[in-house]
Amino acid sequence: MISSVIEKKAATTEARYFRPRRIGHANIYVSDLDRSMAFYKNVVGLREAYRRPPIKAGFLNNGNTHHDIGMVEVNGPASRGMIVGLFHIGWELENQVDLLRGYQRATADGFRFDMMHDHDISYSVYFRDPVGTLNEIYADTKKRWWRDRTGEVNAPNIDWTPNTATPDPEPNYELNPKIVRVEGAVFHPVKITGCCLVVDQFEATVAFYRDKVGLALAGRGDSSDDAVLRGAVGTGDLSLFRAKTSRPAQFHHLNFVCADEADLEASIARAKKERLTIEAEVDAPSRRALVVRDPDGNRINFYVDRAPTPRSLSGLNEKTAIYLV
Ligand SMILES: [Fe+2]
Repeated sequence: MISSVIEKKAATTEARYFRPRRIGHANIYVSDLDRSMAFYKNVVGLREAYRRPPIKAGFLNNGNTHHDIGMVEVNGPASRGMIVGLFHIGWELENQVDLLRGYQRATADGFRFDMMHDHDISYSVYFRDPVGTLNEIYADTKKRWWRDRTGEVNAPNIDWTPNTATPDPEPNYELNPKIVRVEGAVFHPVKITGCCLVVDQFEATVAFYRDKVGLALAGRGDSSDDAVLRGAVGTGDLSLFRAKTSRPAQFHHLNFVCADEADLEASIARAKKERLTIEAEVDAPSRRALVVRDPDGNRINFYVDRAPTPRSLSGLNEKTAIYLV
C-alpha cells in the first residue's frame, strides 16, 4: 500500500504541469514608461496597444497577441522597490482547459502559486523558477481581445478562481495573425520568440522549465552549459546558460525574429547610422543578428535564421554565441 502511494506520488511529480504553445510575451520593469514605450515603438517596431495608468504600465504588439512586450514603471503603485529588468515571462497555453488541468496537476502535487489573476482577456497563474524568475502561464479568454485592449484600461487585476466555471475548450489566441509593420521604426520584427537567462542553479532550472512549465528540451550543448527549450509551436522559446565567472547570472536578452534578411540588413545599417547602443553583431552561417540595448540596458536580439542552429556552441566566441540560440 505504502509503495503504491509512493509510486503514484512519484508519477504525479514527474508529470508536466502545463504544456505552453510558445512564449507569448515578456514583461519588464522600466525606469521611465513614456521613454521605454517610445523606444519599443520607434526602435523595436511594435505598436502601442494599450496602457494601464493605475499601475503605470504599457503594452505593445504587432498583431500576434495582446502584447509581445509589457512594461511597468518601477516607481508606480504596483512596483515600488523593484529594479529595472525582467518582471516575468508569459507562456501562452492552448486553451482554458489546459490551464485548469495544469493547475489541478500542480496543486495535487502540493505546488503553490504566487498569484492567480483574471485579466479579463486571459486567466493567469504565476510562479517562480528555482532562481526567482517569475513565470506567468495563461490562457486567453477572448478571441477579440483587441476590443478591450486599446487606449487606457483602468480595471484592476482580480483573482482567478479555478473550478468555478466550465473552462472554454476553444483556443482564443490569434489563429491567423496579421502582422503589423510599424513604418518608420528602425526594426521590423515579426514577434517575440524567446528569452535567455543565465542561471546559477542550471540543472534545477532546466528541470523546472521542462517538468513544471512543461517546455520540451529541444537542444543541449555538448558542454552541458546551455539548453534550449521550446513550446509546442515555438522555436527556441527559452535558452538557459550556466553562470560562470565570465558570465554571471542575469536576465540576458530577449529574441525577436525579423521577416527577412534584406529587411534586417537595412535595419542594422540604420541602427549604426543612428548610433543606437549596439551590444553585439552576429554574421554566422546559422544566423544574422544585431543586439541593441533598450533605455534601461536590456538587450534585444533581432535576428533572421540562415540555417539550423549548431548543436554545440563550444569553440565559438562566447560573447556572440549566446545570441545564436
Ligand atoms: Fe504578463
